Amino acid sequence: MKKLLYTLTTFLLLSTGLKADEGMWIPLLLKKYNYEQMKAKGLKLTPEQLYDVNNSSLKDAIVWFNGGCTGEIISSKGLVLTNHHCGYDAIATNSTPQNNILDNGFWAKNNGEEKPIAGMWVSIVQRIEDVSDRVQNELKGVSEKERPAKLQEIFKKITEEVKKGTKYDVLVREMFKGNAYYLFVFQRFTDIRLVGTPPQSVGKFGGDADNWMWPRHTGDFSMFRIYANKDNEAAGYAPDNIPYTPKHSLPVNTKGVKEGDYAMIYGFPGRTNRYEFSQGIDLAVEKINPTIVSLRDIRLKAWKEVMDKNEGDRLKLSADYASIANYWKYYIGQTEQLKRLKVVSFKKEAEAKFYDFSKGNAQYENVLTNVEKAYVAYRPIALQRVYLSEGIFGVSMNAMASGLIPYANNAKDNKDTAAANKAIKASLANAEDFYSSFFPLADEKILAQILEMYYNNIPVEQQAPFMATILKSKGKTNTEKFQNYAKMVYAKSFLASREKFEAFCNAPSYKKLIADPCFAMVYAFNNNYLTNYKPQVDAFTAAIGPEARAYVRGLMEMNPGKTFYPDANSSLRLTYGSVQAYEPKDAVKFDYMTTLDGVMEKYDPKNFEFNAPQKLIDLYNAKDFGIYKRADGKMPVAFITNNDITGGNSGSPVIDGEGQLIGLAFDGNWEAMSGDIVFDEKYKRTINVDIRYVLFLIDKLGGAPHIVAEMKLIQ
Ligand code: ARG
Repeated sequence: MKKLLYTLTTFLLLSTGLKADEGMWIPLLLKKYNYEQMKAKGLKLTPEQLYDVNNSSLKDAIVWFNGGCTGEIISSKGLVLTNHHCGYDAIATNSTPQNNILDNGFWAKNNGEEKPIAGMWVSIVQRIEDVSDRVQNELKGVSEKERPAKLQEIFKKITEEVKKGTKYDVLVREMFKGNAYYLFVFQRFTDIRLVGTPPQSVGKFGGDADNWMWPRHTGDFSMFRIYANKDNEAAGYAPDNIPYTPKHSLPVNTKGVKEGDYAMIYGFPGRTNRYEFSQGIDLAVEKINPTIVSLRDIRLKAWKEVMDKNEGDRLKLSADYASIANYWKYYIGQTEQLKRLKVVSFKKEAEAKFYDFSKGNAQYENVLTNVEKAYVAYRPIALQRVYLSEGIFGVSMNAMASGLIPYANNAKDNKDTAAANKAIKASLANAEDFYSSFFPLADEKILAQILEMYYNNIPVEQQAPFMATILKSKGKTNTEKFQNYAKMVYAKSFLASREKFEAFCNAPSYKKLIADPCFAMVYAFNNNYLTNYKPQVDAFTAAIGPEARAYVRGLMEMNPGKTFYPDANSSLRLTYGSVQAYEPKDAVKFDYMTTLDGVMEKYDPKNFEFNAPQKLIDLYNAKDFGIYKRADGKMPVAFITNNDITGGNSGSPVIDGEGQLIGLAFDGNWEAMSGDIVFDEKYKRTINVDIRYVLFLIDKLGGAPHIVAEMKLIQ
């Protein structure tokens, strides 16, 4: 293992002159491996200004936002900027038809008006450490089978040791498919308050039609504030908490960007799979992605009907709808681009080269044949997992019912009363949230269609035996049978009413639960998966794990001149590159910046996705852009860079060579939707809101110049 680490390091060191701006780099290693290249591209800061443990650095202004996004601190009073779509849930939850901040926007006039958001948190990385040696040492002699459990044990031990006597959170992350391990120490803040948001006709302008696409005209931002106790320490919500004083906050550059300018993005990319095998990509393209899309289609259509009928209901469903729709379109785009860019054959070529390299090397020569074997066994059952998570559990009431599975398992024969009670308590805690946006009629429709899709697409011999019970329902056609079955479920299940659900939880009974038509169905489908398919899924994962690890290690040995970076895994990373236009297809060139002119071109008051507030139109007509306009008098809206980001980077700061904020990353582009699997230099771009648009929207549209006044503007 020592030797491996040496090899890893050597290869990283040998790497220079990398062309593409590919790579999500670990901040701790920037000084060693990337700094010279960053400087050559236009960085003016020292490595210590990027990442330091003892003195403040850029990293102290970057927050992991609520587990799924990134934010940045932009004032000495803990003001946090992130995307509108990252604050969406908090904004929608705080909206009612009477006080509709989602549609109308909101700016707190003072600290007292900022809205505490229950459950929201942000974390700031204190330090990063390479713990590969220690982990690899403790893994010595451990078999592949024992490895996952052993790893958990090692992580737990390390985390507890590091945590001891501190108030920090600690996470160990696996890198390079298990060839390296890094530790991240965080300070976590839980008193987070909403400061402001533009109306969604600005923050989500273009809606799902424009989502994942350039040219874009979305003002995708919202603002929060971190509160701390009087000693500036992280603390739970308290009315007398005060705005947090950060170690660092980003100055804001209002001078604007032009093509070729240096740009780096610091944040928490969620997941990429850049070392995926060709079989995995083929499976995604042919089976998994289209299935997810079709299953989500059903949900989205049914919800849309509800949302179009009633404003209050629209507000209740908006956040769930947006999140399902976001990845619905993602999978459509990913499939399209994986095909267009012929990624499977490109990967096969790479694998063929690896195969040649591996011949005669005991470490590597069986990797690809073992992978093929694993996929041959897995492929026929690969949809089981998708149908369970996106299908059966995609029905809201079923998801609620699934919370009672641990109760059923533990209440049977009084196996474990404490565990059974715990499940009941957890389900009860969900009730408020669940029933406040539960639409049984839509849910019933969704259930009927999902069951029918399952019936039509899962091979008969793989279907849950419970299907026979369902098919006994009345009806001339299968469609009618599924509809009648669903009708019966929603008429009879106690889960369909909050009152009955709570009555059950207050006097739970195993017998009653398994007799419930919703729970019985969920339990049966879940058990079919657990008994008949999970073992095969686990076997597949166990078979692929060591091969993927060997593959990545082998690739490094094979390409000593290449710099390797680990896949995204929700840990802090930095990507650097520049502002750059692109050509999406032959004879078409996309410019690198959009302006408010484009908002007006797309403006369509009859289409809610392209509506815009009257005040914005008035400001546009009066050319009242304040100090935020471009030299040519236009109002910039968004720009693109060639940075390497993915989901989770949403809300990340785009930072110039001097460490100043120039924009806010919020999306990827359609032509590179395959980006989580391969980085395509020609097409891959990051879409960012121009910081000048953000400031204009706060100051002029929002009428909140006091918020801008908190920031340090560089003019
Ligand atoms: N595609 C963006 C991302 O995943 C989210 C955009 C949200 N907007 C929307 N129309 N759903 O970061």
